[in-house]
Amino acid sequence: MNRFRVGLIGCGAISPLHLEAVSKSSIAELTAVSDIREERAKAAAEKYGCNYYTNYKEMIEKESLDSIHICTPHYLHPVIAVYAAEKGVNVLTEKPMSVTLEQADEMIEACKINKVALGVIFQNRYNAGSKLIKKTLESGELGRILSARMRVNWYRTSEYYTSSDWKGTWDKEGGGVIINQAIHTLDLLRWFINSPIEYVDANISNRFHPEIEVEDCAEGVVKYKNGAISIFQALNYYSYNAPIDMEIHCEKGLVKMVADEAVISFNDGRELTASRSAMDNSEESGKDYWGIGHAAQIEDFYQSLLKGEKPFIDGEDARKTQALVCAIYQSGRERKKVNL
Ligand SMILES: NC(=O)c1ccc[n+]([C@@H]2O[C@H](COP(=O)([O-])OP(=O)(O)OC[C@H]3O[C@@H](n4cnc5c(N)ncnc54)[C@H](O)[C@@H]3O)[C@@H](O)[C@H]2O)c1
Repeated sequence: MNRFRVGLIGCGAISPLHLEAVSKSSIAELTAVSDIREERAKAAAEKYGCNYYTNYKEMIEKESLDSIHICTPHYLHPVIAVYAAEKGVNVLTEKPMSVTLEQADEMIEACKINKVALGVIFQNRYNAGSKLIKKTLESGELGRILSARMRVNWYRTSEYYTSSDWKGTWDKEGGGVIINQAIHTLDLLRWFINSPIEYVDANISNRFHPEIEVEDCAEGVVKYKNGAISIFQALNYYSYNAPIDMEIHCEKGLVKMVADEAVISFNDGRELTASRSAMDNSEESGKDYWGIGHAAQIEDFYQSLLKGEKPFIDGEDARKTQALVCAIYQSGRERKKVNL
């Protein structure tokens, strides 16, 4: 079988997780990489033995790619995805899929019209703890979800922002702690609760990062149509990257997640747990708070292409989290409740 020919765009911080996963796959092969910073593209190409480009359009033209991985600044995700779709190339993009909801729709539409797949990275859904929580909630054993809360207390230095030409900006990053960091936990909780959202009521502010224009802090409520009330708090000025924590209070038990470990306590005394296995703690996992799911999601994306199925996290699914993120920003800016 010919392996899927993969081109990666954006050889920055997250790219090694994609490059490692593709280079270890038995159904995909790394064909080329591209970055406007030639030294980055060249270094990745030398390490992984592939071609490199400084122009992703040229890479797509010349390399007969089956798919691209987008690892660029956020505002470029829709631009590159639509270009690739129009060339008949499948797309796997890093989160967030876009900055605005309109751009997310353009991506979905372009991929649909050109009959290519659109996958969006939310690797934490692949953690053992996430899977246990999802499965147990779906089984109905926990009864109705009453409320939930999540907290992302992380640490981003001034240097993290000043050394980047896109982080900390509304036009290129699309926001701060919500769209870049807390989006993972917002996505997980939305996926667990599995209901359309009724409204979002949020505050956003910048307290400790005067060098950026976007928020470094947000809190609020997400009211779901199934009645569940979810409370969130996210900030980028804690003194370290504390493990994310989440709790889901159900009629028949309590779900707790700390980092990627889950404990489910039923009211009748039973308990279920899931944690990261020793095998998962590989060097390629990247920073601890990135989690360990990239390899699993990337392999799953290619398995879905092989079977001719939709990716597990496709554009339509990721759009729901994009809508939540955009509603948090609208509510925070306009200081009002936003109905979805
Ligand atoms: N899933 C996760 O846990 C996780 C973690 C970190 C970052 N990310 C995401 O990965 C993406 C990249 O983030 P990063 O931290 O690696 O950023 P980065 O700034 O380190 O890297 C981005 C790279 O894109 C390149 N680039 C910019 N414009 C380009 C263009 N037109 N063509 C080709 N390359 C171009 C830049 O030169 C840079 O090398 C973002 O969407 C981010 O949110 C995801």
